[in-house]
Amino acid sequence: MYTLGIETSCDETSCAVLKNYRVISNVTISSLKEHAKYGGVIPEIATRLHLKNIDKVLNCALKEAKVSLKQINLIAATHSPGLIGALVVGLNFAEALALSLRKPFIGVNHLHAHIFAPFLNNAHPIEFPFLGLVVSGGHTEIYYVEDFTRIRLVGKTRDDACGEVFDKVAKTYGLGYPGGPHIDRLFKASCKNDFSFKCGKIGFDFSFSGIKTALVYKKLELEKQKKLTRKTVVSLLSSFQEEVLETIVAATCEAASKFKVRKIVCGGGVIANRSLRRKLTSKISADLRVLMPPLEYTTDNGAIVAGLGFYLYNRKGKESPLSLEARANQ
Ligand code: KG4
Ligand code: ZN
Repeated sequence: MYTLGIETSCDETSCAVLKNYRVISNVTISSLKEHAKYGGVIPEIATRLHLKNIDKVLNCALKEAKVSLKQINLIAATHSPGLIGALVVGLNFAEALALSLRKPFIGVNHLHAHIFAPFLNNAHPIEFPFLGLVVSGGHTEIYYVEDFTRIRLVGKTRDDACGEVFDKVAKTYGLGYPGGPHIDRLFKASCKNDFSFKCGKIGFDFSFSGIKTALVYKKLELEKQKKLTRKTVVSLLSSFQEEVLETIVAATCEAASKFKVRKIVCGGGVIANRSLRRKLTSKISADLRVLMPPLEYTTDNGAIVAGLGFYLYNRKGKESPLSLEARANQ
């Protein structure tokens, strides 16, 4: 069975073709460069570029997969959460395709799709229950997953998302956009305790806006004292990254213990961070497994949407109505 997956929730226009759970093509055009000069994603630019690129991305994905539109058996697309204009482009495109081709259509929550990433290509058996950890540009959430049809939110950020804070802090320190990979590269383990910063943690919820502000004021203070050297910047950003990632990993492990799950399944752009991957895999024990997606499936892409869409279609045995609307929130 061939599933076409379409993802346009933020700045990536992505289409993938899966044969059952095997990814046979996954093509993405990112509008990242167009947003870089603003230091963040501009929704209208993202929407216009999805419109411009979606046809091209679909055709490339079909060509790479050596599959025609007629051979597609199921069309899956992200319907929430994300930038509303961006979502509308991909969702309406998918619904129109399904209508004209008379193929079943299924709408997918793209955060849930992020935690489907480790199961693509049958890399791991799909077994429940587990704890899902999504760390992305727009979300930082922990879920209790009884099945992909029964997902309960356990903890989330109460303000900024982890990736958003990485991007904003990086912008303050004059690094490029997106800032996460820059901070990841600058990080030095020997400097991780040079400064003492704190994140907010309330139960399994997080607060990252305070640490972001602290980093901004520390920079101003050190600049005034003419003490802001390259070495100090590395110390500041390493200490910042360490505190944010430690907070997320600690909360996730506490949740795993409280909910007595033996598996943590990770997804989202920030899961590409080397230190976060090390921290999470260091928690693996006889009682706890940690499933990590390959790097290519951490950021937004059509393959995760197709994978979850195929699972839900088989599991629920029903499709979504073609009137399904996009939702900015979950
Ligand atoms: O999941 P994603 O592609 O988009 C959303 O759904 O939000 O995540 C993008 C986020 C950006 O904030 C980016 O800075 C962050 O993922 N990111 C990283 C790394 N690679 C991407 N953050 C930290 N370290 C990285 N290596
Ligand atoms: Zn995402």
